[in-house]
Amino acid sequence: MGGSSTAAATIEHLHNDNAALIFSPLRFRNLEAKNRLFRSNLSGMFDDYNGHGSNARVNWERKFAKGGVGGIISSYAPVSVRGRILTRYAMIDNDDKIPFWRRIGETAHEHGALFMMQLSHSGRQQDLGGVENVYKKALSSTDRSDYFHGILAQKMSLEDIRTVVEQFAQGARRAREAGLDGVELHGANGYLLTQFLSSGINDREDEYGGSLENRVRFVLDIIRGIRREVGYDFHLQMKINAVDHNDWLYPWQKKGNSLEESLRICRMLLDDGKGVDAFHISSGSTFPHPRNPPGDLPMRELVRWYDGMLSQGTRTRLNYAIFRNPVTAALFRRYWIWRRGKIIEGINAEYAAEVTKAIRAVDPSVKVLVTGGFQHADAIAGAIRAGACDGVSIGRPLIANNDLPQILQTQNGPDPGRECTYCNKCLINDLENPLGCYEMSRFPGETFEAKHAAMIEEVMSVFSPPTFP
Ligand SMILES: Cc1cc2nc3c(=O)[nH]c(=O)nc-3n(C[C@H](O)[C@H](O)[C@H](O)COP(=O)(O)O)c2cc1C
Ligand code: SF4
Repeated sequence: MGGSSTAAATIEHLHNDNAALIFSPLRFRNLEAKNRLFRSNLSGMFDDYNGHGSNARVNWERKFAKGGVGGIISSYAPVSVRGRILTRYAMIDNDDKIPFWRRIGETAHEHGALFMMQLSHSGRQQDLGGVENVYKKALSSTDRSDYFHGILAQKMSLEDIRTVVEQFAQGARRAREAGLDGVELHGANGYLLTQFLSSGINDREDEYGGSLENRVRFVLDIIRGIRREVGYDFHLQMKINAVDHNDWLYPWQKKGNSLEESLRICRMLLDDGKGVDAFHISSGSTFPHPRNPPGDLPMRELVRWYDGMLSQGTRTRLNYAIFRNPVTAALFRRYWIWRRGKIIEGINAEYAAEVTKAIRAVDPSVKVLVTGGFQHADAIAGAIRAGACDGVSIGRPLIANNDLPQILQTQNGPDPGRECTYCNKCLINDLENPLGCYEMSRFPGETFEAKHAAMIEEVMSVFSPPTFP
């Protein structure tokens, strides 16, 4: 009895240490977050087709702000129609979008959370570009189509590059005018900025391709364009791959950027103190990628919801045939899991530690966040304590438990049966359905029907309160 009460006291003590660290403020150069937990970018098709934001997105973001995160990093906000990945995402392509984002920022601030906008461009990774893009090839650093879905691409001209740089700069200006706390460049997981940075994708022979200095030029142009518009006291961070793992699907593809190359890129993006204020570390040169979001591949859901993409790329029919056949589907899923590796929670922590070390040596005021699987206090505090990062971003575990920060105040993680299982059903449903947790095993009820009803009720809660009460 004495032994077990001592063990309980030790565990409580350890937890208190973890909680004290996680819930200590994080000071960036120009901002302070109340704790070390950030809602990671989570896109959902909640908005109007023309890119105007909806009440559902306000409800969506309110859930996380209320749940207690220190900051929210927005879903993918396209800087232009051409840069969409899916339709019905709130965009930042025009000044007429500023009032919507102001409302979103105010909603986060009401609950003490920061709000940063993720400025984004699909490049060739354009899953469903919408009717406006239907007769156009996607813009990219290359003419080669993406190797996963086979989406056709067109190498950007110098004029295209100047246009897109300006779109990012204006997006940042609009975010600032909307009263948001900062912007993040989506430079990870295969979107346009990765397509320029990656040695596995960028095959240009001009000043924007070839050497690492040339591949970084596009992102540096964007950073300098943004600084021209918003100055140096507005928070600017970059989501970036520490390692590309570009050969995950086809071993004959080039590997893409190594850790060493990415460390050099990160140092260049500091731009002598005038560049980025923080990095958000990810890995994997496509989206999805076995490493992002790290977890399972739900084949039943994939067959049900991938069909909407059949007309999009030259490889989608082949993929669909593989997903539909039970034998090839099982093999593909096993391959996916093997390419991910064993670790899910903290999958990028070791990479982040290297970035932190490299960056700190040059500029200790630049902070590092890391994404990938975090939902337990010991893993989060452990990563911060080990110097791998200053804070973590959390995606799916916050979809599963919007109040995860409150849970982490008093216990190590969600109760058994309530944890995010990393099944990735939220990801696959996102192609056609409202974003939410689709893992039925997590929901209460004795029967299939009862669990399904509970799950649908939670998914649909994003539409409440309604637009017209
Ligand atoms: C449904 C869904 C949508 C996502 N949308 C985005 C996005 O818009 N931008 C982005 O950078 N990452 C996006 N991600 C990746 C997450 O931000 C995060 O990096 C990844 O899920 C790993 O973190 P987690 O294990 O905490 O979920 C998305 C992930 C999911 C599951
Ligand atoms: S569907 Fe739910 S349990 Fe599965 S990964 Fe998404 S949030 Fe986690």
